[in-house]
Amino acid sequence: MRLFSLLLVLSACQSSTETPAPAPSPTPAAEPTPAAAAEPVVEVDPVHQAMFGTLAPAAPKVAGVSPAVNDAQIALGQTLYHDGRLSINGEISCNSCHRLDKFGQDSEPTSPGHDGTRGGRNSPTVLNASTHVAQFWDGRAEDVEAQAKGPILNPIEMGMPDEATVVAALGAIDGYAPLFAAAFPDTEAPITYDNLANAIGAFERTLITPSRFDTYLAGDGSALTAEERAGLDLFVSTGCTACHSGAGLGGSLYMKLGLVTPYETEDIGRMEVTGLESDRHVFKVPGLRNIAETGPYFHDGSIATLEEAVILMANHQLGKNLSVEEADSIVTFLKALTGELPEGAATVPEMPS
Ligand code: HEC
Ligand code: HEC
Repeated sequence: MRLFSLLLVLSACQSSTETPAPAPSPTPAAEPTPAAAAEPVVEVDPVHQAMFGTLAPAAPKVAGVSPAVNDAQIALGQTLYHDGRLSINGEISCNSCHRLDKFGQDSEPTSPGHDGTRGGRNSPTVLNASTHVAQFWDGRAEDVEAQAKGPILNPIEMGMPDEATVVAALGAIDGYAPLFAAAFPDTEAPITYDNLANAIGAFERTLITPSRFDTYLAGDGSALTAEERAGLDLFVSTGCTACHSGAGLGGSLYMKLGLVTPYETEDIGRMEVTGLESDRHVFKVPGLRNIAETGPYFHDGSIATLEEAVILMANHQLGKNLSVEEADSIVTFLKALTGELPEGAATVPEMPS
């Protein structure tokens, strides 16, 4: 919803600030300023500004009474994110499958859990995930807070038997008491499963990675190279933005994989959540931020390279055959979506004992 309203706001701004083409300058062209001669101004296409939007971190869902409380929630979430003691064998943390030193994922087609068993789906990146309309490939969790409750109790991921066992394990680590108390003040027993999820979610809401593309959208056309701008134009003209638009370049809709040309997959996608036949093979459109760093691709991690993913997308979603040169041009643009985490976000905190 947030993405949509952002788009509306942006397009509204766009139409109200539309300026007529500048009148020809009376100054003779023979005497340009040295700066202008050296660096011709690269215009930013207003269509692009309207189609995508500003990527911004969000405050905790259950915001504290002061910035200090919010910071305490985020710091607690960062600690819990890395704590293997939230798993049955004491070794698997969120960071095992969503490594913050590897763009929030693990580069595996599917991920091994506490006993080495793998699920059927690829670990998506946690970076910018909080901006999506919902979580998971099939959108079955409403937000990052609801999502965080899943993997700890998932039998093949972190394998804890129930919430009470997790809360008891945290309660047995003395160092957690002051951290929970600072993050959730005025609560008698702040160590709860909900607060664990709220803290992890608060941390995840800071995992936002602006890139040169955002500098471009903010009005600095030269932030992208001519090749990247050509790739962006092709990305738009091919029709990728029918699904991959908004600040996350995706994450705002559900769509069928194989919309135009059927795609072979056993995974029924969102039909598992809604029970609707019309949701068979429907998935959340993934965001494309940092996409060059988060392969292998697709819900089952079966596609090894970004070039291949782009060619398959054009064919299955749009019924278009891209040449290798065209796919490479789009990939050149997609690489400019590789961004940077806020300072300190990838640091592994000292674990409480
Ligand atoms: C054993 C590997 C593993 C562990 C451990 C794990 N995850 Fe995941 N995570 C996955 C997989 C696989 C998916 C996709 C599952 C699906 O869509 O059905 C996923 C999905 C997600 C998503 C959704 C992202 C999106 O774009 O929809 C978020 C957020 C996330 N995990 C955060 C976490 C957090 C927080 C923890 C720790 C509490 C955690 N994960 C632990 C493997 C793991
Ligand atoms: C009709 C909607 C739609 C259109 C149009 C579309 N995509 Fe997608 N895209 C999706 C969906 C849905 C997925 C998830 C596929 C899956 O579940 O395996 C996806 C996945 C991807 C992925 C893999 C993401 C990941 O994390 O594994 C890439 C890359 C991608 N699209 C790029 C493109 C490009 C480039 C175009 C234009 C040529 C395009 N898409 C057009 C809906 C679309």
